Amino acid sequence: MTDYFDLSGRHAIITGGSRGIGKALAKGFHEAGATVAITGTKDSVLKVAEELAADGGAPVYGVVGDIGDRATRKESFEQAVSLLGGKLDILVNNAGINIRGHNALDFPYDEWDRMLSVNLEGLFYTCQLAAPYMMKQGYGKIINLASIAGVRGAINLPVYSMTKHGVVGLTRSLSNDWAKHGIRVNGIAPGFIITEMVEKTLADPARVRHISERIALDRFGQVEDLVGPAIFLAAKASDYMTAQTISVDGGATYLAL
Ligand code: NAI
Repeated sequence: MTDYFDLSGRHAIITGGSRGIGKALAKGFHEAGATVAITGTKDSVLKVAEELAADGGAPVYGVVGDIGDRATRKESFEQAVSLLGGKLDILVNNAGINIRGHNALDFPYDEWDRMLSVNLEGLFYTCQLAAPYMMKQGYGKIINLASIAGVRGAINLPVYSMTKHGVVGLTRSLSNDWAKHGIRVNGIAPGFIITEMVEKTLADPARVRHISERIALDRFGQVEDLVGPAIFLAAKASDYMTAQTISVDGGATYLAL
């Protein structure tokens, strides 16, 4: 029987893989048989890679790199591909930031610059760096982490929401351009997932109540909830899919009023 979800022999880069959703995806891909390189801005990424590889199986490599840094982005990406033996089948653009505390009336330029440089510019240019490897072999899977805030409006997060709408748009556009090279470009739009990114929200009981009431499956997401959908998009199972952004949100996006 064809194993539609087997990632053995596949080579994957996951950006921002040292914690949260990225780390869970790295663990899941490793368990599904892939050779994985995780990237992150801090040295801790090296230790996380070591931990993930400790059970044997295909290697997990760590690379320190900032996708928002124009001067070093290419170098760290090429280092990751070189650790993977020059092969790249899967790119998960997971790294992203959400700077809270400012609404549309007082949003400062420096935060605008940071948010766009990571969530949009960094993600786009990482796709640009990955595509030639995939084109060479006529096959590849790109998975972009968008957000529920990228398919509907968010409360007091205008710029984050804008960048994530951009991710959904880019996913659709690149899928058109690169389908002829065998590259499928899809996305995942998580709902509310418990990670360090949402710590501040979790500390606000009124927001927690407001969000809880809007999740059909009646619980916040855990990072493990993203693993199955990501493996599906990375594996043979989804070979006839491109341009899609799948909501993994407990039903929150489409909850009826
Ligand atoms: P997190 O903040 O826990 O982890 C983000 C990871 O990205 C960290 O490892 C961080 O070091 C890395 N990163 C940040 N900036 C980077 C850069 N410039 N270069 C390389 N790595 C960088 O976030 P979480 O919650 O795991 O989110 C992962 C993705 O999912 C993000 O794109 C986020 O926007 C998205 N998301 C998360 C949701 C949630 O509720 N947690 C909801 C919707 C989307």
